[in-house]
Amino acid sequence: MAIPQLQGKQVLITGAASGIGRASVLAFARQGANIIASDLHLDSLQGLQQEVQALGVDCLIYAVDVSDNNAMAAFAKEVQQQVGAPDVLFNNAGIAYMGKFLDSGLEQWQRIINVNLMGVVHGCYHFLPLMLAAGGPRQVVNVSSTASYAPSPSMASYAASKFAVAGFCDVLRMELHGSQIGVTDVCPGVINTAITASGAAPSMQGEQIQRLQAYYIKEGCSPDVVANDVVNAVMAGKTLVLTGPYSRLLYHLKRVSRRLLFRLTVKTAPKLGYL
Ligand SMILES: NC(=O)c1ccc[n+]([C@@H]2O[C@H](COP(=O)([O-])OP(=O)(O)OC[C@H]3O[C@@H](n4cnc5c(N)ncnc54)[C@H](O)[C@@H]3O)[C@@H](O)[C@H]2O)c1
Repeated sequence: MAIPQLQGKQVLITGAASGIGRASVLAFARQGANIIASDLHLDSLQGLQQEVQALGVDCLIYAVDVSDNNAMAAFAKEVQQQVGAPDVLFNNAGIAYMGKFLDSGLEQWQRIINVNLMGVVHGCYHFLPLMLAAGGPRQVVNVSSTASYAPSPSMASYAASKFAVAGFCDVLRMELHGSQIGVTDVCPGVINTAITASGAAPSMQGEQIQRLQAYYIKEGCSPDVVANDVVNAVMAGKTLVLTGPYSRLLYHLKRVSRRLLFRLTVKTAPKLGYL
């Protein structure tokens, strides 16, 4: 649901210490929103808290692992006591894993699903009831990825987790239809953040990872681009955000020709570091 005026609203962002989360904290704070920022470690959020407070808004920080259901339930209770229901719930925390399917252990699948999918599910499960009970226009924002419709090789578990987030968003949006809560699915393209360092199969170490990281540094845009698009989407009540390099192009290419998208992806993957 559109929230045209963010001044004084409560915006909760997970994975707030780095990349898209950090940039979004600052973008929402510049609009006058109060921030509830969480990440794995409190010390990674303390500098950000000072930066946000210097903008003249409140900033609460919490150490919460989004994959931990009990911790997320306790987090929701604590937030409700401190500030009430969030106006904007931004489920952003996520990790990557790069490596060909048969070169990778199955244990990393569980880790990716626990963080990227269940982290989003936990956020919605524990905060949505508070948001519904509080009433008024509110917005859930979940980060999937361009990998939720146009993945590359070496990202089987990551793409599966992001396809799942996109499907979850579609269903949640239908179930909330008629309420004052909207659901935004954010699909970033190539964004230059620390995410490329978050995990890779042994077969992909070294030169290939360097090639991939060089691609993200060269082609990737700043996370500020995503953050600004998310803020605008919340203010306008948009359901889908295609943001950053290749996100929009690949979305439309898939609709025009899945075959062409497949051939293009397979052809460019070795050059970019995906194979
Ligand atoms: N960078 C890209 O190119 C890109 C593209 C598409 C989608 N995304 C998605 O955007 C989101 C943010 O990624 P980013 O690029 O800013 O990465 P990042 O690594 O810079 O930031 C991710 C943050 O999430 C936190 N985090 C990781 N696991 C967590 C957990 N279990 N609980 C709480 N916090 C946790 C990390 O500590 C980190 O601060 C992710 O969901 C990612 O999948 C990124």
